Amino acid sequence: MTQIQVARPTLGEEEAAAARRAILSGWVVQGPEVAAFEKEFAAMVAAPLAVACSSGTAALHLALAALDLGPGDEVITVSHSFIATANAVRYTGATPVFVDVEYATGNINPDLIEAAVTPRTRAILAPHQLGIPCDLNRILPLAEKRNLKVVEDAACAIGSEISLKAGEWEHIGRPRGDLATFSFHPRKVITTGDGGMVTGRDPEIMARIARLRTHSMSLSTAEREIAGGIVFEKYPEVGFNYRLSDIQGAVGREQLKRLPGLITERRRLADRYRQALAGHPHLDLPREPSWARSNWQSFWVILKEECPRGQKEVMQTLLERGIRTVRGVMCAHREEAYLGTPLRFPLPVSERLQDRSVIIPLYPGMSDGDQDRVIAALGEVLESK
Ligand SMILES: Cc1ncc(COP(=O)(O)O)c(C=O)c1O
Repeated sequence: MTQIQVARPTLGEEEAAAARRAILSGWVVQGPEVAAFEKEFAAMVAAPLAVACSSGTAALHLALAALDLGPGDEVITVSHSFIATANAVRYTGATPVFVDVEYATGNINPDLIEAAVTPRTRAILAPHQLGIPCDLNRILPLAEKRNLKVVEDAACAIGSEISLKAGEWEHIGRPRGDLATFSFHPRKVITTGDGGMVTGRDPEIMARIARLRTHSMSLSTAEREIAGGIVFEKYPEVGFNYRLSDIQGAVGREQLKRLPGLITERRRLADRYRQALAGHPHLDLPREPSWARSNWQSFWVILKEECPRGQKEVMQTLLERGIRTVRGVMCAHREEAYLGTPLRFPLPVSERLQDRSVIIPLYPGMSDGDQDRVIAALGEVLESK
């Protein structure tokens, strides 16, 4: 019996050839391939500017640092996300203020944001969780009214779409807020091994992000090489080494070419799951609002309260049948690293989703036969008591 993985990257000869091209060029650190990747990525999501970096976490840290967040500031965000979301706030010295999420999307609940605003609040950090766009239609006016920055954590959302005007669809990442950040970890829709991207509109902020990525060096190695004479760089503020390599940049460019096809296939597989599992007495399914189109980076099922089987039991039984799953999105506030960050609001939906949802296999290249095996096994596991 073959194992069915929960996720698999789509990498092939094209990516191998691109990596080879970068390696044989003799220039492997961030250089022309990364610059081209940034341009092509920006064009794909219709963003004026894009800056590549070493991970989605680095992208978040760069974005928050470039907005000058620091000790004493508060950022309204969710606990219900990969811990990188909250950690990035902590890196800056600011305090994450967690609010609860919506059951059907796993995204920040806009109804709860206003009550969390204090005189110290500077920004809202809103993930498009697992690919489903968060409710920017409601978050953006709220932020404007309270003079808050908006950073979209689009780590999972490359290729997802949102409709802010009836009948018009736009890719996540233009961005609609101040900045959006992406991840190219292999569980995401496209990958460079590890990698990330920040997109934005403000040239000054984006230039600062590009400098912060390389220790705020005023001139890059490449710029010094082409300067023609001897020039020395300066370091006006403390930055980081968050560069992406040119080998990764070259791979990313090939992955971008695949993106439309990958999304089409993910949506097809998600539709098959929805058709097979909708109405199951023990399951709730994630729901795309009418103004959102997910890239279906992940598909999850939520075990209803009355479901006779617990999350771990369902996952273990599926594993014994050769089907790998992942528990629902974690909650940072339940981790030891966050015991010192007092909760201001209860997070019952976040906790319920962590404890009751299971991410099931979905990736381009998954055969319909394997998907049917997952559907059948899940049905049997849930019925067997
Ligand atoms: C919502 C969210 N934000 C940030 C990250 C961090 O991305 P990376 O793993 O590339 O650092 C992830 C990764 O899983 C994520 O899911």
